[in-house]
Amino acid sequence: MEKLTGPKKIKTAVFISGTGSNFKNLIKFSKIKNSPISINLVISNIYNAIGLKYANQFKIKKKIFNFQDIKYTEKKILSLLRKEKIYFICLAGFMKILSKDFIKKFNGKIINIHPSLLPKYKGLNTHHRAISNRDKFAGCTVHYVTEKIDSGKVILRKKVNVTINDNPTSLAKKVLTQEHKLYPAAIMKIFN
Ligand code: GRF
Repeated sequence: MEKLTGPKKIKTAVFISGTGSNFKNLIKFSKIKNSPISINLVISNIYNAIGLKYANQFKIKKKIFNFQDIKYTEKKILSLLRKEKIYFICLAGFMKILSKDFIKKFNGKIINIHPSLLPKYKGLNTHHRAISNRDKFAGCTVHYVTEKIDSGKVILRKKVNVTINDNPTSLAKKVLTQEHKLYPAAIMKIFN
């Protein structure tokens, strides 16, 4: 990844589908002087995603696409990204799978946060699976997005302890707290 030169920040889009706590956290991070990125756009596949409220709050351009026709939608998104001069994409709780073609066009410039210690527990219900397997550790991973789901190169990972009192909800909460530290740290790692 190229080094930052000068004071300009890298224009970034965040893709969300839900609560958007990572989106909010990335906005806050982007406003720190040393942050290499600015958040210029949020894209969602859910028109009433809770996280979209942060777009209003922080005056970030938002666009909703229903993804019914993936090819058409991705074409629209690509032209929007081009128009907005977006260079970097952070997926944050985005529940759609991007096509191989789309990923190729943004090769090495799309990252994702996943609520498990990858390569363990790719896909959904990670906390439930960790609890069922009586794992001692769970955690989160920031990784590059490739066409194989949750399989791209790991940028950073953070472990949390799973205690006997944990259930999927308490574990999700614990992991999410760490996600909010890990995502900015991973971005710093990429651009510094
Ligand atoms: C996070 O746990 C993230 O790891 C996963 O989806 C969740 C999104 O949470 N991909 P939020 O919408 O950022 O609050």
